Amino acid sequence: MGKVALITGGSRGIGRGVADYLYEKGFSVAITSRREADEAAKAKFLCIAADNASAEDRQRAVDETIAKFGRIDLLVNNAGIAPRVRADLLDMGEDSMRELIDVNLIGPFFLTQLVAKRMIEQGSGTIVNITSMSSYTVSVNRGEYCVSKAGLSMMTQLFAVRLAEHGIPVYEIRPGIIATDMTSKVKDKYDALIAGGITPIKRWGQPEDIAKAVYALSLDLLPFSTGEVINVDGGFHLQRL
Ligand SMILES: NC(=O)c1ccc[n+]([C@@H]2O[C@H](COP(=O)([O-])OP(=O)(O)OC[C@H]3O[C@@H](n4cnc5c(N)ncnc54)[C@H](OP(=O)(O)O)[C@@H]3O)[C@@H](O)[C@H]2O)c1
Repeated sequence: MGKVALITGGSRGIGRGVADYLYEKGFSVAITSRREADEAAKAKFLCIAADNASAEDRQRAVDETIAKFGRIDLLVNNAGIAPRVRADLLDMGEDSMRELIDVNLIGPFFLTQLVAKRMIEQGSGTIVNITSMSSYTVSVNRGEYCVSKAGLSMMTQLFAVRLAEHGIPVYEIRPGIIATDMTSKVKDKYDALIAGGITPIKRWGQPEDIAKAVYALSLDLLPFSTGEVINVDGGFHLQRL
């Protein structure tokens, strides 16, 4: 059996792209999502219906993955949501902030705690957090998303330091504008921004772009690095004059 990956939010979008790619590369793959995964996913992956915001569901996701595959070599904290409504910072509601912090930050934080303990017992493992260019880029109409992702970036550093003595690297992948359901609602806006040159590489990112970065990190080819940020954003992060 190849390495075992647990990917949260693996039923659609970026997580699905990662799951498909790792499966092709010989990984045994477990995915989570709130809704039931489709038949094509069920044929390849262990599909676990689990809400990452629920402590009970997170524990069950780990237990079911271990029961099926015996270990977890790679955790990909991918599940994440955008605000239901893009509201101005001065009007954004407390409920929306709480929902995003629950799903995008508390969920991955405590799932990582669970899986890290397992990886320490195993003596190996790799953790990859899917953050966003919103970790450091201000959007005043979705401030709660930015804050949740900035928190996830700090979480990467915290766990990277804590787990270094156990030989478990923790990395962060910062996607740019990626074509998924999440961005489909603002497609016209991003089409225009990309055409206008907001990214040096003038195209939409695809889930497979993120998948390749996750796979590269899974190969243990950066043995003296942890806490690293990999921007997969077409060069968006480069400041230009
Ligand atoms: N698309 C982009 O341009 C972009 C850019 C930067 C960062 N990101 C980040 O990349 C990650 C994936 O985004 P995406 O664009 O692929 O989003 P997506 O197309 O909306 O897919 C989200 C996935 O996460 C699952 N999910 C959502 N909430 C969940 C929860 N509470 N528990 C378990 N699973 C949950 C969804 O399934 P269910 O709905 O069935 O639960 C789905 O499988 C997110 O963290 C997002 O913030 C995306």
